[in-house]
Amino acid sequence: MVGNSKPQLFTPFALRDLTIPNRVLLSPMGQHSADEGVPSDWHLMHLGQYAVSGVGCVITEAAAVSPSARISQGCLGIWGPEHAKGFARIRDFFDRYGSAKFGIQLNHCGRKGSVMKRWERSKPVSVEDGGWVVEGASTIGYPGRVAPVPFTPDRLKDLAADFANAARQAHDGGLDLIEIHAAHGYLLHSFLSPLSNNRGDRYGGSLENRMRFPLEVFEATRAAWPVGKPIGVRVSTTDWAAGGWTEEETLVLCAELKKRGCDYICASSGGTTPDQQIPVEPHYQIPFAERIRREVGIATAAVGLITEPQDAENIIAERKADFVALGRALLWDPRWVWHAAKALGAKTTFPHQYDDVFR
Ligand SMILES: Cc1cc2nc3c(=O)[nH]c(=O)nc-3n(C[C@H](O)[C@H](O)[C@H](O)COP(=O)(O)O)c2cc1C
Repeated sequence: MVGNSKPQLFTPFALRDLTIPNRVLLSPMGQHSADEGVPSDWHLMHLGQYAVSGVGCVITEAAAVSPSARISQGCLGIWGPEHAKGFARIRDFFDRYGSAKFGIQLNHCGRKGSVMKRWERSKPVSVEDGGWVVEGASTIGYPGRVAPVPFTPDRLKDLAADFANAARQAHDGGLDLIEIHAAHGYLLHSFLSPLSNNRGDRYGGSLENRMRFPLEVFEATRAAWPVGKPIGVRVSTTDWAAGGWTEEETLVLCAELKKRGCDYICASSGGTTPDQQIPVEPHYQIPFAERIRREVGIATAAVGLITEPQDAENIIAERKADFVALGRALLWDPRWVWHAAKALGAKTTFPHQYDDVFR
């Protein structure tokens, strides 16, 4: 613990032209409550509550870049003007009442797609029942799910264009920041991991080849997104499985992303295989954020079982990461940031409707 008089958790941090007022991010969490990908009233309430509760940057759940990029029919999406309009409504709420910046996570779920909602146990949905053809990095299916149809190189070009289109729609919708989802066994991660990529072409085999498509997606997205707005990438630092994606490979990937203008890395892990052996305990992923930050020289977000204000403060003050991304702790307590400010002796923001009460 570092004895700073001013809590570091409550200091601003700039990524390009975007200054995030403190170091707390809402970690993306799928809500499966969109209507053909368009955010619903649920999203206005869910994301809006964090915007008025002191979170530095609210990042949406994984938003699919096309209809077939979704996990379930309820996934959020960002592929057309109707989606941009839906996000603009939430942006308007943030501007009128909130203090948070607004980020979106872009995703293609690859071989994990066309399933029922999480609370319906993610059972596969056939095309006849309203699902879609599952396409993926290669022919290796996720255990218990249908084997994907591998993307041809031409389809990969379309897909990179889908990410670029999503970035343009996100800009029209007023989003401040993009986080590309390259973790948790979804499409970009499944290109990276030898456990899910058996391609024989230039997108499979060597590390350089396995990184090729995720890097092409990054470049296409970066080119379509205003230069002053930041893009981060969420990675699974390791597959936690023999023969899988490794921490050493992640360092190489992050260095390549940095060269291409990536602004931060959120260091998560796992998701490729049910055989993963994860030593889950509080803060088990923080060393990943710390190592990437130190060895690659890029801003990082630490995520995973961060629940206590003093722990979050120590992560930032001890330079283990530049941000903490909180998921379940913010679900349990949407006013976590207010409580953290009180515990650490920092000032935070309240909506005008409440501020006289708490001053
Ligand atoms: C309900 C739920 C949905 C999630 N959906 C996503 C998602 O859309 N994208 C993502 O990258 N991670 C997702 N995650 C993972 C969280 O962002 C986070 O990394 C994980 O919960 C660990 O952080 P925590 O211990 O603070 O909850 C989800 C987690 C939960 C609990």
